[in-house]
Amino acid sequence: MNYNKKTVKDVDVAGKKVLLRCDFNVPQDKVTGAITDDKRIRAALPTIQYLLDQGAAVIACSHLGKPEPSFDKWVKKQTEKGKDPASLTKEKWEKSLEALCMEPVAKRLGELLGKPVTLAGDINVVNPDVQAKAAALKPGEIMLLQNTRYNKGETKNDPEFAKAMASLADLYVSDAFGAVHRAHASTAGVADYLPAVSGFLIQKELDFIGGALANPKRPLVAILGGSKVSSKIGVINNLLEIADTIIIGGGMAYTFAKAQGGSVGDSLLESDWLDYCNEMVAKAKDKGVKLLLPVDTVIADRFAPDANTNVVRSGEIPDSWQGLDIGPETIKLYCDAVKDAGTVIWNGPMGVFEFEKFAVGTKAVAEALSETSAITIIGGGDSAAAVQQLGYADKMTHISTGGGASLEFMEGKELPGVACLLDK
Ligand code: 3PG
Repeated sequence: MNYNKKTVKDVDVAGKKVLLRCDFNVPQDKVTGAITDDKRIRAALPTIQYLLDQGAAVIACSHLGKPEPSFDKWVKKQTEKGKDPASLTKEKWEKSLEALCMEPVAKRLGELLGKPVTLAGDINVVNPDVQAKAAALKPGEIMLLQNTRYNKGETKNDPEFAKAMASLADLYVSDAFGAVHRAHASTAGVADYLPAVSGFLIQKELDFIGGALANPKRPLVAILGGSKVSSKIGVINNLLEIADTIIIGGGMAYTFAKAQGGSVGDSLLESDWLDYCNEMVAKAKDKGVKLLLPVDTVIADRFAPDANTNVVRSGEIPDSWQGLDIGPETIKLYCDAVKDAGTVIWNGPMGVFEFEKFAVGTKAVAEALSETSAITIIGGGDSAAAVQQLGYADKMTHISTGGGASLEFMEGKELPGVACLLDK
């Protein structure tokens, strides 16, 4: 994939109406709806501010959560989740949509920009009122469309919906890195009808992650954790082609331990992936990639923050105990391995970092990364959350704003929301 895409700086934006796709999919308090982390809104500010300062009128848009715009489908999904169909009223469905209204985002964005952000639209997202408001928008002004997923056409990448959004503007700018792995109407389809360039956030993500994958400062060390081998297959496979060292931690290490003949007690285990783990070990050998697996592990007598713990050799976990973190010897091994790295890519925690007792491995790795002179790139999602929660965020070179997007990027997959942008 070509990452060398035109940006807002390569086109004339003055006096233009710009449709700006952001990833404002922010976490909200379930009861009050208040935004609990506005990082993604802040991450879009440099592009928004630049466009406004250059005299563009900005029509921002984003999805928020996963609203179901069809009542019938909503009933079907809720029923599948075990809800009683008799309790599934139209009012409840409407409430589920309202809970994902963009109002709190418009408010927060307005506060951060220090100017009003008009929210316009309904379940169709684009309607005559939105068209009139967009037409009347002046240079330096900004409005926000309703949740793009309110429209049935969004996730289907419906050309009619893409055309309707495109008709509001002269130029499409995407800064929604977190959603570039989705081929949706507002993330990709719209680029069929407007010149399309990237904002500063996408450019930054492409530079850091793309740069580390295509032309890394070596040695390149990849630290892969998280619970499931099955969700990391693509990444392990792709990084085995690129990295000098691959470090495995987190829940998926137990499937590797079992594959190598060890006992893992009640630890997370994906029995269908044992052969795959052995294939990866063999592939690493074949390619001359150093593959590091845990040598010891912290075990618990139950999955709880106050569980009783012990440290044992990997693959020697007694029955009814489960591994929840890497052990002290493994920590030393892993921290030594990143010391002289040129680039480190980290995706997935080393243990159950949400419980203090089992956050030691993740914390030690974060600390080692904060002390190395290597370029440190943290994938979005859990690893970004871990680094933030443990207080090392400002010590990393780059923390991705995309969970699924950064994962697919590291898998070497084409990202539809990037592929659709104009090449330089
Ligand atoms: C994310 O939160 O990872 C992005 O906003 C994409 O959201 P999605 O998984 O609902 O498409």
